Amino acid sequence: MNHIISIHDLDRDQIDRLLARAGEVTAEFAGKEPLKGKILGLLFFEPSTRTRMSFESAMLRLGGSCMNLGGVEVSSMAKGETLADTIRVVSGYADAIVLRHPKVGAARLASEFSEIPILNGGDGAGQHPSQTLIDLYTIRQSMPLDNIHIGLIGDLMYGRTTHSLAYALTHYNARIHTIAPKGLGLPDSIHDNLEERGATVIEHDSIEEVISDLDVLYVTRLQRERFPDPAKFYDVSSSYRITPSLLTDVKDHLAILHPLPRVDEIDPSVDSLPYARYFEQARNGVPVRMAMLTEVMT
Ligand code: CP
Repeated sequence: MNHIISIHDLDRDQIDRLLARAGEVTAEFAGKEPLKGKILGLLFFEPSTRTRMSFESAMLRLGGSCMNLGGVEVSSMAKGETLADTIRVVSGYADAIVLRHPKVGAARLASEFSEIPILNGGDGAGQHPSQTLIDLYTIRQSMPLDNIHIGLIGDLMYGRTTHSLAYALTHYNARIHTIAPKGLGLPDSIHDNLEERGATVIEHDSIEEVISDLDVLYVTRLQRERFPDPAKFYDVSSSYRITPSLLTDVKDHLAILHPLPRVDEIDPSVDSLPYARYFEQARNGVPVRMAMLTEVMT
């Protein structure tokens, strides 16, 4: 395996193998340094806490090192250097690159100019495949992945994590229930592509009408920074919020996930309920990314 740009780069066997490996890496490499001498380049052109720090933690735990570009303003991109040239240059300094970029397709473009593996750490409203592996890994800790009913709630237009997760779930015969504020449903192209891949996608007007059927509730924030019209954000802000009172008639094994950061879409009083899995999900970033790094760098 070389680049991981899109969840479409992985078939079901490869996904299952990475998830199984994520469950073993911590014990398998305890006291060992399989990536000693290797360097991971971190090129983040959008804010990040989890993706940047869990890739770094994963690399350090595997005995490797990280090199951080530090963003546009402190690199020669501030002088006008292109992403393509930056990638060409950094691929001579590192052994793999994690790229986060505000533009859809940036990671694919980078892979065309890189001599080393590119891992997409999120490209605009496109995809976030490493987050998807974390999401699947977290679900699998609670239930088998096949045949689940999953609710995707929030900004499904610009929320890249929901795009790659929905595509990945087509391998597992999931029923995908969508609940989105007006104008923020899944893009038509993704909705149609999911159905072409055999997915069942059911749109709902409210979370109340489907919550009791769900095995997984995947919550996302409004991607305010991607709204072309800031006024639109105020039209839809606070239009959904997960609270304990919503969760009175749910399946015992319901898992509530959120890629985080959360703004106000999950009430903090949900955190202590047995359904809340989102902080565990964030912790799972380390073993899943350890599995990915050993896959592309050894
Ligand atoms: N889930 C996620 O991508 O979080 P960050 O934006 O903090 O990396």
